[in-house]
Amino acid sequence: MALVGLIGGSGLDRWGEPLRSVTTNTPFGPPSGPVQVFAARGHELLFLPRHGPDHAIAPHRVNYRANIHALFEHGAGAVVAINAVGGVDPGLAPGAIVVPDQLIDYTWGREHSFRDGEAGPLDHVEFAAPFDDDWRTRLLAAGKSAGVALTDGGCLGVTQGPRLETAAEVRRLARDGCTLVGMTTMPEAALAREVGLPYACLAVVANLGAGLDAEPISLEAIHQVLDEAMDRVRRVLDALFAAL
Ligand code: HPA
Repeated sequence: MALVGLIGGSGLDRWGEPLRSVTTNTPFGPPSGPVQVFAARGHELLFLPRHGPDHAIAPHRVNYRANIHALFEHGAGAVVAINAVGGVDPGLAPGAIVVPDQLIDYTWGREHSFRDGEAGPLDHVEFAAPFDDDWRTRLLAAGKSAGVALTDGGCLGVTQGPRLETAAEVRRLARDGCTLVGMTTMPEAALAREVGLPYACLAVVANLGAGLDAEPISLEAIHQVLDEAMDRVRRVLDALFAAL
Protein backbone atom coordinates (compact mmCIF):
# COMPACT_ATOMS: atom_id res chain seq x y z
CA MET A 1 0.00 0.00 0.00
CA ALA A 2 1.41 3.37 -1.02
CA LEU A 3 0.92 6.46 1.05
CA VAL A 4 0.77 9.56 -1.13
CA GLY A 5 0.74 13.09 0.24
CA LEU A 6 -1.52 15.25 -1.89
CA ILE A 7 -1.21 19.02 -1.49
CA GLY A 8 -4.30 20.73 -2.85
CA GLY A 9 -4.05 24.24 -4.26
CA SER A 10 -6.54 26.90 -5.34
CA GLY A 11 -9.64 25.13 -6.63
CA LEU A 12 -8.86 21.98 -4.66
CA ASP A 13 -9.16 22.88 -0.99
CA ARG A 14 -11.26 19.78 -0.27
CA TRP A 15 -10.95 16.18 -1.37
CA GLY A 16 -14.15 14.73 0.17
CA GLU A 17 -15.13 13.21 3.50
CA PRO A 18 -11.95 11.94 5.18
CA LEU A 19 -11.68 8.64 7.06
CA ARG A 20 -9.99 10.68 9.76
CA SER A 21 -8.46 14.04 10.22
CA VAL A 22 -5.35 14.53 12.34
CA THR A 23 -4.64 17.91 13.90
CA THR A 24 -0.91 18.06 14.14
CA ASN A 25 1.91 20.38 15.07
CA THR A 26 5.53 20.36 13.93
CA PRO A 27 8.81 21.86 15.18
CA PHE A 28 8.15 24.57 12.57
CA GLY A 29 4.64 25.41 13.76
CA PRO A 30 1.26 24.17 12.57
CA PRO A 31 0.67 23.09 8.95
CA SER A 32 -2.06 24.71 6.86
CA GLY A 33 -4.70 22.45 8.45
CA PRO A 34 -5.29 18.98 9.80
CA VAL A 35 -3.79 16.16 7.74
CA GLN A 36 -6.83 14.38 6.27
CA VAL A 37 -6.63 10.66 5.58
CA PHE A 38 -8.54 9.06 2.69
CA ALA A 39 -8.76 5.60 1.19
CA ALA A 40 -8.00 5.75 -2.53
CA ARG A 41 -8.08 2.61 -4.67
CA GLY A 42 -6.60 0.45 -1.91
CA HIS A 43 -4.02 3.06 -0.94
CA GLU A 44 -3.96 5.70 1.73
CA LEU A 45 -3.97 9.30 0.73
CA LEU A 46 -2.92 12.14 3.00
CA PHE A 47 -4.54 15.38 1.90
CA LEU A 48 -3.45 18.84 2.97
CA PRO A 49 -5.01 22.00 1.52
CA ARG A 50 -2.05 24.36 1.04
CA HIS A 51 -4.09 27.52 1.65
CA GLY A 52 -6.00 26.00 4.60
CA PRO A 53 -9.49 24.48 4.65
CA ASP A 54 -11.06 27.97 4.23
CA HIS A 55 -8.55 29.15 1.63
CA ALA A 56 -7.33 31.97 3.87
CA ILE A 57 -3.53 31.53 3.77
CA ALA A 58 -1.74 33.60 1.10
CA PRO A 59 1.06 31.97 -0.92
CA HIS A 60 3.85 33.85 0.92
CA ARG A 61 2.33 33.03 4.33
CA VAL A 62 1.96 29.27 3.82
CA ASN A 63 4.10 27.40 6.36
CA TYR A 64 5.75 25.20 3.73
CA ARG A 65 8.18 23.66 6.20
CA ALA A 66 5.34 22.59 8.51
CA ASN A 67 3.32 21.16 5.60
CA ILE A 68 6.16 19.03 4.25
CA HIS A 69 7.23 18.00 7.74
CA ALA A 70 3.66 16.94 8.62
CA LEU A 71 3.27 14.82 5.47
CA PHE A 72 6.69 13.25 6.02
CA GLU A 73 5.98 12.50 9.70
CA HIS A 74 2.64 10.90 8.80
CA GLY A 75 4.43 8.52 6.46
CA ALA A 76 3.91 9.96 2.97
CA GLY A 77 6.19 8.24 0.45
CA ALA A 78 5.83 10.94 -2.19
CA VAL A 79 4.16 14.30 -2.67
CA VAL A 80 1.83 15.13 -5.54
CA ALA A 81 1.09 18.85 -5.62
CA ILE A 82 -1.76 20.60 -7.39
CA ASN A 83 -1.04 24.20 -8.39
CA ALA A 84 -3.15 26.81 -10.12
CA VAL A 85 -0.89 28.76 -12.49
CA GLY A 86 -0.94 31.33 -15.25
CA GLY A 87 0.16 30.47 -18.80
CA VAL A 88 3.29 32.32 -19.96
CA ASP A 89 3.52 30.32 -23.17
CA PRO A 90 0.46 31.65 -25.06
CA GLY A 91 -0.09 28.10 -26.35
CA LEU A 92 -1.07 27.01 -22.85
CA ALA A 93 -4.68 28.14 -22.77
CA PRO A 94 -6.80 28.32 -19.64
CA GLY A 95 -7.81 24.79 -18.69
CA ALA A 96 -4.57 23.15 -19.85
CA ILE A 97 -2.98 20.82 -17.31
CA VAL A 98 0.81 20.62 -17.33
CA VAL A 99 3.32 18.27 -15.68
CA PRO A 100 6.28 20.65 -15.41
CA ASP A 101 9.87 19.44 -15.42
CA GLN A 102 11.66 22.64 -14.43
CA LEU A 103 11.19 25.72 -12.30
CA ILE A 104 12.77 29.08 -11.54
CA ASP A 105 12.39 30.47 -8.03
CA TYR A 106 11.62 34.21 -7.85
CA THR A 107 10.24 34.10 -4.29
CA TRP A 108 11.89 35.87 -1.38
CA GLY A 109 11.71 35.97 2.40
CA ARG A 110 10.05 32.56 2.79
CA GLU A 111 11.34 30.03 5.32
CA HIS A 112 12.70 27.72 2.69
CA SER A 113 15.04 25.12 4.18
CA PHE A 114 15.39 22.42 6.82
CA ARG A 115 19.11 22.31 6.09
CA ASP A 116 20.20 25.89 6.72
CA GLY A 117 22.40 25.31 9.78
CA GLU A 118 19.62 26.45 12.14
CA ALA A 119 16.59 24.23 11.48
CA GLY A 120 19.01 21.37 10.81
CA PRO A 121 22.63 20.78 9.82
CA LEU A 122 23.79 22.80 6.82
CA ASP A 123 23.55 20.86 3.57
CA HIS A 124 23.25 21.70 -0.12
CA VAL A 125 20.77 19.32 -1.72
CA GLU A 126 21.04 18.46 -5.40
CA PHE A 127 18.12 20.07 -7.26
CA ALA A 128 18.99 20.14 -10.97
CA ALA A 129 15.75 18.27 -11.75
CA PRO A 130 13.28 19.69 -9.20
CA PHE A 131 10.43 17.32 -10.14
CA ASP A 132 10.76 13.58 -9.70
CA ASP A 133 10.97 11.85 -13.07
CA ASP A 134 9.33 8.63 -11.95
CA TRP A 135 6.28 10.40 -10.49
CA ARG A 136 6.08 12.69 -13.52
CA THR A 137 5.94 9.57 -15.70
CA ARG A 138 3.22 8.07 -13.49
CA LEU A 139 1.14 11.24 -13.75
CA LEU A 140 1.51 11.32 -17.54
CA ALA A 141 0.50 7.64 -17.76
CA ALA A 142 -2.47 8.32 -15.48
CA GLY A 143 -3.56 11.14 -17.79
CA LYS A 144 -3.47 8.71 -20.73
CA SER A 145 -5.48 6.05 -18.97
CA ALA A 146 -8.04 8.61 -17.73
CA GLY A 147 -8.34 10.16 -21.19
CA VAL A 148 -7.24 13.55 -19.88
CA ALA A 149 -4.78 15.53 -22.00
CA LEU A 150 -1.66 16.55 -20.07
CA THR A 151 1.24 18.64 -21.36
CA ASP A 152 4.56 16.92 -20.73
CA GLY A 153 7.15 19.38 -19.45
CA GLY A 154 7.33 23.08 -18.82
CA CYS A 155 9.21 25.56 -16.72
CA LEU A 156 7.27 27.05 -13.84
CA GLY A 157 8.35 30.49 -12.63
CA VAL A 158 7.42 30.86 -8.97
CA THR A 159 6.63 34.44 -7.96
CA GLN A 160 6.00 35.93 -4.54
CA GLY A 161 2.36 36.98 -4.88
CA PRO A 162 -0.23 37.42 -3.66
CA ARG A 163 -0.63 40.01 -6.39
CA LEU A 164 -0.57 38.89 -9.99
CA GLU A 165 2.36 39.92 -12.21
CA THR A 166 2.83 43.01 -14.33
CA ALA A 167 2.87 42.53 -18.11
CA ALA A 168 6.63 43.33 -18.08
CA GLU A 169 7.22 40.67 -15.43
CA VAL A 170 5.44 38.10 -17.59
CA ARG A 171 7.56 39.14 -20.60
CA ARG A 172 10.66 38.69 -18.46
CA LEU A 173 9.46 35.26 -17.32
CA ALA A 174 9.09 34.28 -20.97
CA ARG A 175 12.63 35.56 -21.76
CA ASP A 176 13.91 33.52 -18.83
CA GLY A 177 12.40 30.40 -20.39
CA CYS A 178 9.31 30.03 -18.18
CA THR A 179 6.18 28.63 -19.77
CA LEU A 180 4.08 28.91 -16.61
CA VAL A 181 3.83 31.19 -13.59
CA GLY A 182 2.58 30.28 -10.12
CA MET A 183 3.17 31.31 -6.53
CA THR A 184 3.41 28.14 -4.46
CA THR A 185 5.77 25.52 -5.87
CA MET A 186 8.72 27.00 -3.98
CA PRO A 187 9.95 26.35 -1.41
CA GLU A 188 7.59 23.33 -1.33
CA ALA A 189 9.46 21.31 -3.95
CA ALA A 190 12.89 22.01 -2.44
CA LEU A 191 11.73 21.12 1.08
CA ALA A 192 10.37 17.81 -0.22
CA ARG A 193 13.79 17.17 -1.79
CA GLU A 194 15.53 17.99 1.49
CA VAL A 195 13.57 15.28 3.33
CA GLY A 196 13.95 12.84 0.42
CA LEU A 197 10.32 12.85 -0.74
CA PRO A 198 9.78 12.49 -4.51
CA TYR A 199 7.73 15.49 -5.63
CA ALA A 200 5.71 16.05 -8.80
CA CYS A 201 3.03 18.53 -9.73
CA LEU A 202 -0.06 19.00 -11.84
CA ALA A 203 -0.09 22.67 -12.83
CA VAL A 204 -3.55 23.81 -13.87
CA VAL A 205 -3.56 26.85 -16.15
CA ALA A 206 -6.23 29.17 -14.79
CA ASN A 207 -5.55 32.19 -17.03
CA LEU A 208 -3.13 33.62 -19.54
CA GLY A 209 -0.31 35.53 -17.85
CA ALA A 210 -0.70 39.29 -17.36
CA GLY A 211 -0.58 41.23 -20.61
CA LEU A 212 -1.09 38.20 -22.85
CA ASP A 213 -4.84 38.65 -23.14
CA ALA A 214 -6.60 41.78 -24.37
CA GLU A 215 -8.79 41.67 -21.23
CA PRO A 216 -7.48 42.11 -17.69
CA ILE A 217 -7.28 38.85 -15.69
CA SER A 218 -10.64 38.19 -14.04
CA LEU A 219 -10.81 36.27 -10.77
CA GLU A 220 -14.31 35.12 -11.65
CA ALA A 221 -13.05 33.57 -14.89
CA ILE A 222 -10.17 31.93 -12.97
CA HIS A 223 -12.61 30.30 -10.56
CA GLN A 224 -14.74 29.03 -13.42
CA VAL A 225 -11.76 27.51 -15.22
CA LEU A 226 -10.47 25.88 -12.02
CA ASP A 227 -13.91 24.44 -11.15
CA GLU A 228 -14.06 22.70 -14.51
CA ALA A 229 -10.42 21.62 -14.59
CA MET A 230 -10.40 20.11 -11.10
CA ASP A 231 -12.82 17.39 -12.28
CA ARG A 232 -10.14 16.35 -14.78
CA VAL A 233 -7.45 16.58 -12.10
CA ARG A 234 -9.49 14.22 -9.89
CA ARG A 235 -9.82 11.75 -12.79
CA VAL A 236 -6.04 11.80 -13.34
CA LEU A 237 -5.40 11.25 -9.64
CA ASP A 238 -7.91 8.41 -9.49
CA ALA A 239 -6.08 6.72 -12.38
CA LEU A 240 -2.76 7.37 -10.64
CA PHE A 241 -3.92 5.66 -7.45
CA ALA A 242 -5.47 2.79 -9.40
CA ALA A 243 -2.12 2.14 -11.09
CA LEU A 244 0.07 2.30 -7.97
N1 HPA B 1 0.30 34.30 -11.88
C1 HPA B 1 0.72 33.68 -10.75
N2 HPA B 1 0.01 32.74 -10.14
C2 HPA B 1 -1.16 32.38 -10.68
C3 HPA B 1 -1.65 32.97 -11.85
C4 HPA B 1 -0.88 33.98 -12.48
O1 HPA B 1 -1.25 34.55 -13.53
N3 HPA B 1 -2.85 32.39 -12.11
C5 HPA B 1 -3.06 31.46 -11.14
N4 HPA B 1 -2.03 31.46 -10.28
